[in-house]
Amino acid sequence: MEKRYENLVSRLAGQPCVKVLFVCLGNICRSPAAEGVMRRIVEEGGEGSRWVIDSAGTGRYHIGQLPDNRMRVHARRRGLELTHRCRQVCEQDFDDFDIIIGMDSDNVRNLRRVAPTPEAEEKIVPMAAFVDMAMRYDHIPDPYYEGAEGFELVLDLLENGCSRFFACCRK
Ligand code: 4NP
Repeated sequence: MEKRYENLVSRLAGQPCVKVLFVCLGNICRSPAAEGVMRRIVEEGGEGSRWVIDSAGTGRYHIGQLPDNRMRVHARRRGLELTHRCRQVCEQDFDDFDIIIGMDSDNVRNLRRVAPTPEAEEKIVPMAAFVDMAMRYDHIPDPYYEGAEGFELVLDLLENGCSRFFACCRK
């Protein structure tokens, strides 16, 4: 992992509470799935009460909607119920969260535009920073125009990345 991300994550490891926001474009596929995957990991790790987990989108097309049906179906097969309601990321999120994890480089670039200060910008980390290099992905690919395998790939990458992120932050 890059040094600047390592520094941020090692600070989180020392905190009594960790607040993470996952961000993608639509907030109906990747980021609500990341939220669900992460919530299960922290609960299974006995840290449910230590974490605040949410998701948002850089776009505003689907505000108020539940996650995409295809994402909900694939998540449910892994025992995850996704009930998040879509919202757009905003400046306030940079105060409310310790780390803001973008799914791809477009998300990261758009998040930089929303960040109100250079310090706020330092909270932005790409999800791929936590995904094992062996999975050979440097971003979480947008599944919106893909078939079933696109959604399964997203869940595989998120389970890997979120587990590794949790291991870095664990008390
Ligand atoms: P997400 O996927 O960013 O993972 O939620 C998308 C959802 C909707 C659209 C694009 C990507 N869209 O163009 O409406």
